[in-house]
Amino acid sequence: MRTANGRALVTGGAGFLGSHLCERLLHDGYSVLCVDNYYSSTKDNIAHLLDNPRFEVIRHDVTFPLYVEVDEIYRGFGICQFDQDCHAEERDLPDRRPDRP
Ligand SMILES: NC(=O)c1ccc[n+]([C@@H]2O[C@H](COP(=O)([O-])OP(=O)(O)OC[C@H]3O[C@@H](n4cnc5c(N)ncnc54)[C@H](O)[C@@H]3O)[C@@H](O)[C@H]2O)c1
Repeated sequence: MRTANGRALVTGGAGFLGSHLCERLLHDGYSVLCVDNYYSSTKDNIAHLLDNPRFEVIRHDVTFPLYVEVDEIYRGFGICQFDQDCHAEERDLPDRRPDRP
């Protein structure tokens, strides 16, 4: 589902920080794609979001390539160097990641 605010991908979206980030993005009108391998978390952190039609989860280790079409990418945990380890399709869209002023 695409909304006025577009689609946001959150790496580590099931973690402590990531799940709150997912909540905030949903609150702000985004469709959210949460990507997490549950290395240090469980689905408990995002259980309350699963019924939201604008929320999707993929179980995936982001150190491996993932090709998805999103408008914005948010890093929900500190280890991932997205440009080096991950790949996402961001065709014709400005880079508005929060860690890229
Ligand atoms: N209630 C609280 O105050 C509370 C609770 C939990 C954590 N914390 C604190 O928050 C800080 C860290 O929280 P956080 O959100 O960064 O950690 P986190 O472990 O909760 O979240 C990291 C997320 O990244 C995921 N992840 C890790 N490697 C991955 C990979 N390769 N691919 C995909 N997903 C991957 C993990 O499974 C996890 O869901 C710490 O300082 C911690 O002590 C506080």
